[in-house]
Amino acid sequence: MSFEILGTGSAHPACRKTNDDIAQLVDTSDEWIRSRTGIESRYVCTTETLQDLALEAAQKALKMAKVQPKELDLILVATIRGDCITPSAACILQNALGASCPAFDLNAACSGFLYALDTADGWFCRNRAKKVLVVAAETMSRLLNYQDRTTCPLFGDGAGAVVLGQGDALLSIHLTAKGDPLTLRIDNTDGQSPFLKMDHPAEQYLHMSGQNTYRFAVSNLCRQLKLAAQEAGIDLKDLDWVLPHQANLRIIEGAQHRLPIPTEKYCINIQNWGNTSAAAVPILMDEFCRKGTFKPGDLLGLVVFGGGLTTGSAILRWTIDPKKIFDSEVSK
Ligand code: ACO
Repeated sequence: MSFEILGTGSAHPACRKTNDDIAQLVDTSDEWIRSRTGIESRYVCTTETLQDLALEAAQKALKMAKVQPKELDLILVATIRGDCITPSAACILQNALGASCPAFDLNAACSGFLYALDTADGWFCRNRAKKVLVVAAETMSRLLNYQDRTTCPLFGDGAGAVVLGQGDALLSIHLTAKGDPLTLRIDNTDGQSPFLKMDHPAEQYLHMSGQNTYRFAVSNLCRQLKLAAQEAGIDLKDLDWVLPHQANLRIIEGAQHRLPIPTEKYCINIQNWGNTSAAAVPILMDEFCRKGTFKPGDLLGLVVFGGGLTTGSAILRWTIDPKKIFDSEVSK
């Protein structure tokens, strides 16, 4: 026994910044960002916390699933950095929801949502859980250097959530990690210890080798999706929808050229969000779910990559009836 998805939700901060807004801060342009990445705008936190985004996404997913917080057996939050080092974002969310189950965070950078689904799968397989809430939430804007044009236009803030119940909708899931301390890196702060002897105090900014990440991303999107399909015993052509990590439209197009899947089957929303790291795929899933794109029985291929360097891929059978989404909205 594994799981099926019962509900999805997502949230973003109120403030939306266009490429022209970013070009006020660094030497870049709408034309450069659009043509090299596909990004047109992104949301950034002004007064919102990560907890605000996580809570809103979670409440929407619970509402669609018609599950009460007290019914949850586990809360997982995938994030690069919560509002606090401790308590975890998951414990803060548990408190805000009024749930009473175990709760913890995990960090696999942009691959965190898939790592969290795999962890949840283990709880279902061991019969430890009947209902699990998985949230991926990121406030990337707090981790960017807005004087570095090679990184600051690329990322945005947001949260996505799914509520899982017992079922057999997960056909395969495949994770990898290739320890690489440099390609994508955000140092932690050094603290105030009077004993530290560091020449250069750590700066909590994202550093990225864009071209190394690009190469890693294209080859792994293809390889990991093929592996997940193989493990599920399906052909890539059987997939109804592909939900790839939203890091750069050109990375997705690179994968489209190499895979035998029609381009119209790829779900894409990077133009409006930028790269929201671990939150990208659950946000994408929620958006296309609420549009009524997915029908019960559809096969979804999820594939992500990120800092670590990590990857994740999964094949899921869709189980939510679009009619049910409508009902849950009416019952608001
Ligand atoms: N505006 C204008 N010029 C820029 C900008 C910008 N925002 N950024 C870089 N440039 C310049 C560079 O300085 C360089 O100039 P130079 O030739 O004079 O030195 C030129 O553009 C080309 O730079 P490249 O790095 O070669 O540009 P590229 O076409 O590779 O695009 C990009 C850069 C968008 C970062 C691309 O490499 C990429 O998308 N990489 C993958 C990024 C990614 O996936 N990140 C997230 C993964 S994991 C996670 O989500 C945490």
